[in-house]
Amino acid sequence: MKKCLAILLIVALALGIVACGSTPAGSNKGKLITVGFAQCKADESDWRKANTKSVQEALSEANGFKLILADSNNDAAKQVADVQGFIDQEVDYIIIAAVNEDGWDTVLNNAKKAGIPVILMDRTINASEDLYTCWIGGGFYEEGVKATDWIAKRFAGADKVNIVNLQGQLGASAQVGRTKALEDAIAKNSNWNLLAQQTGEWSTDKAKEIMASWIKQYGDQIHCVYAENDNMADGAIQALEEAGMKVGGDDGIAIISFDANRAYLQMTLEGKINCNVECNPLLGPAVADIIKKIEGGGTPNKKETIDETAFFYDTITQEIIDKRPY
Ligand code: AHR
Repeated sequence: MKKCLAILLIVALALGIVACGSTPAGSNKGKLITVGFAQCKADESDWRKANTKSVQEALSEANGFKLILADSNNDAAKQVADVQGFIDQEVDYIIIAAVNEDGWDTVLNNAKKAGIPVILMDRTINASEDLYTCWIGGGFYEEGVKATDWIAKRFAGADKVNIVNLQGQLGASAQVGRTKALEDAIAKNSNWNLLAQQTGEWSTDKAKEIMASWIKQYGDQIHCVYAENDNMADGAIQALEEAGMKVGGDDGIAIISFDANRAYLQMTLEGKINCNVECNPLLGPAVADIIKKIEGGGTPNKKETIDETAFFYDTITQEIIDKRPY
């Protein structure tokens, strides 16, 4: 009988070891890693929806994580309070896709004091690098330069280039970088003229409304629309088409967009968007890898920039679009 019990004990211990060994990669002795994710606005745009989904899929329970999503609805003050809430809950890690570049010092100092690593995803912030563990995302200024390079080629030799700029939410690093690239290019090209500039808050409806008012004010003086994301480019195109104006192609009003979500690349192939600069939202797996690296005692790179490209109406193909994951 004693021999039987001893065998049972050995079998139970062996099964326990096997069970521990089969816990998801990156998990701490079978315990889920708790991650607070301060998203700016989970369903704000096609890009943001793809980004939210990418983080949710990569940081799933099956992969060893317990993800707590806080959606600030693009309210900067609420987002800072969301991060403080994560600190109070004693989460293991915090991910931030910052609504605004500014206003982070106090809460990030609190995270540092609490020993919680902070990963900035997508957006950058104006704060000392000691206050966060690392940042991963795209280069917004460089994206803008890809777009302005295209404008320069398209309008080479033109007497005047009148541009309207639908900006992202003011103060977001994506807006700041893309707007600055345009303003720098305007400063360098004496024939470029910024006719109007206003935030469309990343939204199709808001951009459509603003574009309709610019059409009333400026009519066919408008040569180029620089919309700082796909959703706003779509809104501008709708307003222009409803006003009977020709968009895109070789001789319509030139349309610039950012993000390069699949549906808008289709609009690029149709010729409605002339230049669509990529900004990759699928950052979840890279964030999961960063956390696993830290869990394993490693140190992630302080800054990791994702490679990005640009797509043009006269060179994009259906094959390229079909291969796109988002
Ligand atoms: O930070 C990336 C930008 O944020 C995307 O261009 C926009 O669609 C999103 O909200």
